[in-house]
Amino acid sequence: MFYRIKQFFQTFVAKLEKKDYDFINFYLNSKEKELFYKLNKADQYHSLKVARQVIDRSVKEGCYDILLVKAALLHDVGKINSGLNVLTKSIMVILDRMFSRQLRKVKKIKFIKYYYDHPKIAVQYLYPTDEYLLFLIENHHNYNINDKKLKLLQECDCKN
Ligand SMILES: [Fe+2]
Ligand SMILES: [Fe+2]
Repeated sequence: MFYRIKQFFQTFVAKLEKKDYDFINFYLNSKEKELFYKLNKADQYHSLKVARQVIDRSVKEGCYDILLVKAALLHDVGKINSGLNVLTKSIMVILDRMFSRQLRKVKKIKFIKYYYDHPKIAVQYLYPTDEYLLFLIENHHNYNINDKKLKLLQECDCKN
């Protein structure tokens, strides 16, 4: 809950600085950057925080991989133009707890569809690219796969 409140306020102060642009330029190619900058500011900010934490932890745990950092920056690009914002996202978090199975079938309401399908949509935007990058992004909300780097991405995603 505290994390949700923090995230809510973060969206109002989210602003990128020179060091962030340098970071993005270092890790992403021009097509990837174009996608990244189409994310709303709050999601850009979130993705940068995930990426920085992924670097810290992967270095410590001996599994640093440039693809993991790219995945952290790009994992939510499927949310571009999704209608998902702080408000609709908060609604979805609550509704998902109660009606997950039924809601997954609702494809006509844009923000509901994107809430569940954004990993797959991101893959469509990025294809063709490295298979492992696509794997990490497509599965960033699939908690049943045992892959060390994927698990690390998921943990950092959930904390930021
Ligand atoms: Fe996501
Ligand atoms: Fe995320």
